[in-house]
Amino acid sequence: MRRHAGRIRLLPVVLRLASHAPRNRADAWEQYWRTVPAGEVLWDGSPKAEGAQYEELVRRHLDPGLPVLDVGCGNGTWTRWLAERFPEAVGIDQSASAVEQAAREASGVPNAAFGVLDALDDGAGGALRERVGEANVFVRGVFHVLRPGARRTLAANLREAVGSRGRVLLTETNFRGSGLAYLEHLGATARHIPGPLRKAIETLPQPGHFGPRELRRAFPASDWTLLEETEVVIGTVPLAEPGVPGVPAEIPGYCAVLAAR
Ligand SMILES: C[S@@+](CC[C@H](N)C(=O)[O-])C[C@H]1O[C@@H](n2cnc3c(N)ncnc32)[C@H](O)[C@@H]1O
Repeated sequence: MRRHAGRIRLLPVVLRLASHAPRNRADAWEQYWRTVPAGEVLWDGSPKAEGAQYEELVRRHLDPGLPVLDVGCGNGTWTRWLAERFPEAVGIDQSASAVEQAAREASGVPNAAFGVLDALDDGAGGALRERVGEANVFVRGVFHVLRPGARRTLAANLREAVGSRGRVLLTETNFRGSGLAYLEHLGATARHIPGPLRKAIETLPQPGHFGPRELRRAFPASDWTLLEETEVVIGTVPLAEPGVPGVPAEIPGYCAVLAAR
């Protein structure tokens, strides 16, 4: 009962914050990356801890001799992680500000490179293929922010990028409760919303979730072989309450590895 009342009080706070977000998704992402303060990127948890969950999947399924594309790379945290495991890692993002930040943060990493590209564009798959040849593709936290039609478009473009030897490894948040329950899970109350979460609410489109059912819709069995799927935990940056040092939140996640047919 008390939780229900708290959720009802949270709703208008969230609606007011979200009313500032740009309607156009590309504009929203660009504004986010242009203005987010250092250390406040909500999903920028610890690649060391979270990455340990992907290590075995990478070893089992991805050819370590191929380059890797980090599609929707944001500030490039995971492109740098990938550059330690593959001969060449290329991060692409539709946001020029994200790519600028990613390139700056990877300036000492000789085998990492970045480019601006809308992965939903007609021809994006061909452009990626032309840039690095057949490649593995890593995607973290992109499918769950896309609408169903866009998810299918992205999967179709990735099919061209991986060719016959590359694999897609995707990892997405998959919180199955309501939008408000999700925000509460990340520490939001009517009285306080942690800074990194507030920034996301007031700038970005509302995220969805992505699990086995969503995967099968976006990656039809006629075009893809599902090699492995598993539950994972996606980490955030520390999320502080007033007067209390922040701790990272753990978000239920879903990870899958696919090959193109
Ligand atoms: C939640 S962030 C995840 C960033 C990064 N993958 C990570 O895990 O740290 C989603 C990213 O996808 C990018 N993105 C969204 N739609 C895209 C599109 N159509 N083409 C390329 N990038 C896109 C956004 O700009 C943003 O950087």
